[in-house]
Amino acid sequence: MNANKTIQTRQLNNVGVEVFGFDINQPMSPELQAELRALWLEHAILVFRDQDITPEKQIEFSRIFGPLEMHPLKATTSDEYPELFVLENGGESDKYNTAYYDGEAIVNRLIWHMDLHYTGKPNRGALLRAVHVAEEDGLTGFGDLAKAYQALSPELKAKIADIEVAYTFEMQRIKWRFADNTGYKPGPFSPKKPSDVGFPDFADSIYPAVVTHPETGDKVLEIVEQFLDRVIEPEKVGMSTDEADDLLRELVAHTRKPEFHYWHDWRPGDMVLWDNWRAMHCTTGTRAGVKRLIHRTTIEGDHTLGRQL
Ligand SMILES: [Fe+2]
Repeated sequence: MNANKTIQTRQLNNVGVEVFGFDINQPMSPELQAELRALWLEHAILVFRDQDITPEKQIEFSRIFGPLEMHPLKATTSDEYPELFVLENGGESDKYNTAYYDGEAIVNRLIWHMDLHYTGKPNRGALLRAVHVAEEDGLTGFGDLAKAYQALSPELKAKIADIEVAYTFEMQRIKWRFADNTGYKPGPFSPKKPSDVGFPDFADSIYPAVVTHPETGDKVLEIVEQFLDRVIEPEKVGMSTDEADDLLRELVAHTRKPEFHYWHDWRPGDMVLWDNWRAMHCTTGTRAGVKRLIHRTTIEGDHTLGRQL
């Protein structure tokens, strides 16, 4: 039986869906490809489990959703497959990616963010595949910011309709103004400036607090705590700087509500695809020495949602 003739979905916890009755190694008709694209637009987060998948298949499958992008950092892509971005814990880069949380060393923990947000032109989406699963930890969280927008009160929707928000590209988490840094301490090799990890510097990126999704027309609350810095010219909408900061704190607290989140606990054979124009994500990281390997393919963004200052 061709598994792909009967694909179905199951609601995940809170947001996103699992697609089942699907086999990446079965033929994918144009109709099925269109159905997968429609599910991605509708739900923003798609989970596929028990897939027997090779790097070539991951690349081919990802292209259903758009042209693939090579990450600006060549050093982090696979030599053999430039389309694959390699996310590795338990390897040589750990020392730069280790920080302390309540005294415990954790590798690659990342707070809520959208990929390439700091460029003003986030990628369209991405697909993660579990290559080597950590025995514990290493969860990936996804947050639906279209649902977060819908859940705002009418008063708050009106208040943020005309504001713009700036994000400052800054390597030191302790300088992120709206991160919760309780219990956090950088590691001895945590990067201090972009060149420490081979990044160029980026000017501040500016986004409307509410971005209209270019393909679906959905309104997306464009508030992610990583790099979030300030409201642009709050006085123009009758707010003081302090009031603007309070507003951002309120919005960040809103995005942290569990009802907008799905937490993926990885098993071998898993793939997760998300809409990076609508969903934020984060990782819990792993304890020092734990091995974990994820391959990411990145779908190019063909719209500039923000702008650079
Ligand atoms: Fe990311």
